Amino acid sequence: MDRIVNSRASADAPLRTAVIVGSTREGRGGAAIAQWFAECSRQEAALELDVIDLAEFSFPQRYPRRATPAMLDFSKRVDRADAFVVVTPEYNHGYPASLKQAIDYCCDEWFAKPVGFVAYGTAAQGLRAVEQLRQVFNALHTVTIADVVSFNRFDGSLGDDGRPRDTEAAGIAVRRMLAQLTWWARALRAARAELPFAA
Ligand SMILES: Cc1cc2nc3c(=O)[nH]c(=O)nc-3n(C[C@H](O)[C@H](O)[C@H](O)COP(=O)(O)O)c2cc1C
Repeated sequence: MDRIVNSRASADAPLRTAVIVGSTREGRGGAAIAQWFAECSRQEAALELDVIDLAEFSFPQRYPRRATPAMLDFSKRVDRADAFVVVTPEYNHGYPASLKQAIDYCCDEWFAKPVGFVAYGTAAQGLRAVEQLRQVFNALHTVTIADVVSFNRFDGSLGDDGRPRDTEAAGIAVRRMLAQLTWWARALRAARAELPFAA
């Protein structure tokens, strides 16, 4: 009985959702898009957001033998999260190296959690980067969310402030993605509490 009551209580707890800002490029467009997304998400769902901006970490140039404080800080924040939203640009039909560097600093911290995407680029709206990320996150035993929030940064759909002009359409896309993300996050959090993940 206690167990049922406890699992109901934890099912209602806010979902700790890490929004990972993947681009660290000087002059990047990703910061404004991530900020807009975080503001939208705070309005739309009972999420406890942690915006993890990779530009704020001093990661080592080479993968070291021992994790550095920056790597440990990043992996602790990944570990704490119930769900992730990766904000990614497309670079040469892929995702940026800064994102792969960070992803590879964690292992079981990712396991059995959902990953959604906010993507941007030119005509392909970052979707080729997302498809590559699905492959990587599959290796890390995550569930990637089918619907993606995506933008062409150069067709006028973003304003001078780098945020979507059509906030209604963008809001619908965010709600759709977050509905799927939160469903998986609740289901997987309950499953992890019930049984350790069998990796
Ligand atoms: C090195 C590099 C390669 C790029 N390659 C692509 C590409 O293959 N497809 C695309 O749609 N956009 C491409 N772009 C455009 C970026 O997606 C766009 O500039 C985006 O704003 C970059 O994200 P950021 O500003 O957050 O760094 C490329 C940009 C850079 C800097």
